[in-house]
Amino acid sequence: MKQSTELLEMATEAMNKAYVPYSRFQVGAAILTANGQVYSGCNVENAAFPEGTCAEAGAIASMVLGGETQIKDIYVIGNGDALVTPCGGCRQKIREFASADTQIHICGAEGVRKSFTMNELLPYSFGPENLEQ
Ligand code: THU
Repeated sequence: MKQSTELLEMATEAMNKAYVPYSRFQVGAAILTANGQVYSGCNVENAAFPEGTCAEAGAIASMVLGGETQIKDIYVIGNGDALVTPCGGCRQKIREFASADTQIHICGAEGVRKSFTMNELLPYSFGPENLEQ
């Protein structure tokens, strides 16, 4: 599984660049798109606390800048024993670019700890289709 190792590495590299002077909690995310491209992001905090951004949001912004809009897999990594699952806001942000087979892989230092589908993390979600009339 070369690709999963690469994505894990990218997420880890991103995590190590996180700007987290307030929480000291580094998070990294790496996206594999349906076209096979990869994008990563880290959390960037702010002295005005609510203005901080999550790692997933950074990776999504990078993906969109790269001209891509379909997330096949997203790897999220953080420190500690608990699963670093995306926050509620990030679940919705991922949902915008997810499909039925999108996988969200939650990782730790040892590798992937648990993988979820989008529907598992955000059931009965609201998405772009809801705006079709
Ligand atoms: N954080 C993320 O970047 N992604 C997550 O999935 C969970 C939380 C960040 C936000 C904040 O900078 C720090 O982790 C502590 O909440």
